[in-house]
Amino acid sequence: MTLASELRDVAISLAREAGDMALHGRKTGTLTLKTKSSPVDMVTQFDKASEDLITKGLAQLRPHDAIVGEEGADTKGTSGITWHIDPIDGTTNFMYDLPTWAVSIGAVDEHGPIAGAVYAPALGEMFSAARDEGAHVNDTPLAVHRTNDLSTALLATGFSYDVNGRGPHTQRVARMLMHVRDLRRMGAAAIDLCFVAAGRLDAYFEEGLNSWDLVAGQLIATEAGAVVTNFAGEAVTPSQVLACSPELHATMVRFIRESSYE
Ligand code: IPD
Ligand code: CA
Ligand code: CA
Repeated sequence: MTLASELRDVAISLAREAGDMALHGRKTGTLTLKTKSSPVDMVTQFDKASEDLITKGLAQLRPHDAIVGEEGADTKGTSGITWHIDPIDGTTNFMYDLPTWAVSIGAVDEHGPIAGAVYAPALGEMFSAARDEGAHVNDTPLAVHRTNDLSTALLATGFSYDVNGRGPHTQRVARMLMHVRDLRRMGAAAIDLCFVAAGRLDAYFEEGLNSWDLVAGQLIATEAGAVVTNFAGEAVTPSQVLACSPELHATMVRFIRESSYE
């Protein structure tokens, strides 16, 4: 067994445990809500509980790895592996009892993402990947939808919690809408990336993400044949993410540039 597949299996098992706990808690308990960066950026007790469960599991299974988590996990490591955890990606959906939310757990080494799992318990879907070993949803291999036709492409995006910062991206998206099949705003970046991997979306692009939104989904998308870059077609960082099939990539880069205000 390779290190990549060992790490993927760790991610799968902890994502499943945390996601099932959060789904069960959401269906049977009361939600305790607090705001974070803005009045519409929420956190629940299940975000915290999910991150606690995952960090405790990693401390047992991978004690020498570093951890970065959205709800504050910040552990130094010595192994060269860093885990990036979003304990609930799509908290707004979770809050509203919409099914599109996930636990996202990704591992990075000196070459980039090496393993990841994105578990959407309310959809009954476990997306996973190990570097150079392909991507799966449950046991089914994933492959992007190969298209180069923007006019029939289904796009997805997302918007910042800071409503005052939404202007430029809103303008960009409004211009783009005139030239594509349609647009989805799913509400969970990790799921958007997995849906590109599954051929359920033709392209996804968003600005202002964090590493825990990106790492697992990025690997799942690339292992399914997607290209994942920034808006200029260069190395991706969380601040700008574009994921699509290789055939659509150059067109998407041009289209995003032409739709953006200077
Ligand atoms: C958010 C979701 C959303 C994206 C935001 C993220 P959270 O994550 O992924 O789709 O548009 O940029 O912050 O707060 O639900 O973990
Ligand atoms: Ca997130
Ligand atoms: Ca989150």
